[in-house]
Amino acid sequence: MTSVSLPVDPFDLVIFGGTGDLAVRKLLPVLFKRFVDGQIRPASRIIGVARVVLDEDGYRRLVRDALGEMAAAFAQQCEAFLALMAYHPLDVRKDDGWDRFTSFVNERPNNIRVFYLSTSPGLFIDICQRLGECRLNHGTARVVLEKPLGRDLTGASEINDAVGRVFAESQIYRIDHYLGKETVQNLLVLRFGNALFEPLWSTAHIDHVQITVAETLGLGRRADYYDRYGALRDMVQNHLLQLLCMVTMEPPSSLLPDAVRDEKLKVLRALSPIDASNAARLTVRGQYRAGISEGQSVPGYLDELKDGRSSTETFVALKIEVGNWRWAGVPFYLRTGKRLPEKVSEIVVAFKPVRHSVFARGSGMPLQNKLVLRLQPDEGVKLWLTIKDPGPGGLRLRHVPLDMSFVEAFGVQQPDAYERLILDVVRGNPTLFMRRDEVEAAWRWTDPILDAWESSNEAPRPYAAGSWGPSAAVALIERDGHTWNEGND
Ligand code: BG6
Repeated sequence: MTSVSLPVDPFDLVIFGGTGDLAVRKLLPVLFKRFVDGQIRPASRIIGVARVVLDEDGYRRLVRDALGEMAAAFAQQCEAFLALMAYHPLDVRKDDGWDRFTSFVNERPNNIRVFYLSTSPGLFIDICQRLGECRLNHGTARVVLEKPLGRDLTGASEINDAVGRVFAESQIYRIDHYLGKETVQNLLVLRFGNALFEPLWSTAHIDHVQITVAETLGLGRRADYYDRYGALRDMVQNHLLQLLCMVTMEPPSSLLPDAVRDEKLKVLRALSPIDASNAARLTVRGQYRAGISEGQSVPGYLDELKDGRSSTETFVALKIEVGNWRWAGVPFYLRTGKRLPEKVSEIVVAFKPVRHSVFARGSGMPLQNKLVLRLQPDEGVKLWLTIKDPGPGGLRLRHVPLDMSFVEAFGVQQPDAYERLILDVVRGNPTLFMRRDEVEAAWRWTDPILDAWESSNEAPRPYAAGSWGPSAAVALIERDGHTWNEGND
């Protein structure tokens, strides 16, 4: 099976934070993949902007290093790709350098302009104001904002107001890379492209839903950022809530951007509140201690941070309800954390058990059907069914998956989420990006949890690196008679 990649119109992609972790680890390598695939035309330019003083050759060397083995494997294309690169050292808060930068961008007035803010959110307002002053916000200009947008609703609204004074909402692309993951889009197709699931997709037939996003990594190079944010702001407010929206939203009338985003917004507004009155019952937060991760001894969070006092959570588990007609009474269990035993992101939809078992005791019990959507690794879909154990002898029941691994089925490696999203910005398609009201609705729901934690004065519960989080997270789901889906089930 072959997939077709259509080239996009020539563009100038300006990456603010062009020497930073995200640019080097993600953005530049995925752009190279799209270039190798023929989607980026040679008239395009990729312009790094950062405070680091580098000349163009220095930046090209940095990009070549960022491409790692790919640079050697596609040597010829690598040279052509590096020829698209430019670099502008700029302290965005200072006046120096902006004139030169503006003239450079204006050299290609017909290129689509994308300003990618891969910097700390603290700089978003300054950068946008400058872009406005330099009159770079017109025509085809678009701005991409990396999450998290602010640390709370007030901060997010300030950024949205300030950016909104320079760019129209239709020019603003708030990125949540989870929405670009193949399986997340497949969730839309699975739900709305098959007549099978939709009639079952409600409290009448679904028992509960689990969403797990587990990582093995610890803090890495991001200690300063992470300690100010923590798992709820870094992962739940955006990625996990967006996944929840995709599972629970009503069928949109089409896949036009606002049709989808209107439905997601309704879900965010329907989330039952969690605040000081119920946070102790519905939330668990944890912080990792030293332990064994992927066969290696690793230090605890506080040691990595070199600050013995931080109460930032590196793990969160939540029990959520979506208070509407379709979902009343269905618990949604969400968990995410650093230094967990494996890197896995998945959504598990557990259906209600059969009403009455017709089978003799000795045959075993029909277990709940489960639909497991794996976002990573081994992207795919599994539908767990009860069948008869094959062969002679008595009738015995077995629980087996209809198992579709995308790589095995289609023989192609799934593209990285950023590959699609960056090109969607160039194409001007905001369907997979968050609208202002969505981001703010997510903060409106998240803020009271943060307040409740702060006022409780309780420290996050410790868990050993390499474990599945604090035991309280297990209790959270087991109290309701369920268990977290673990292993490759
Ligand atoms: C980012 C978070 O948005 O997502 C990181 O800031 C996290 O802390 C990352 O590691 C996880 O993304 P993925 O695609 O590797 O699951």
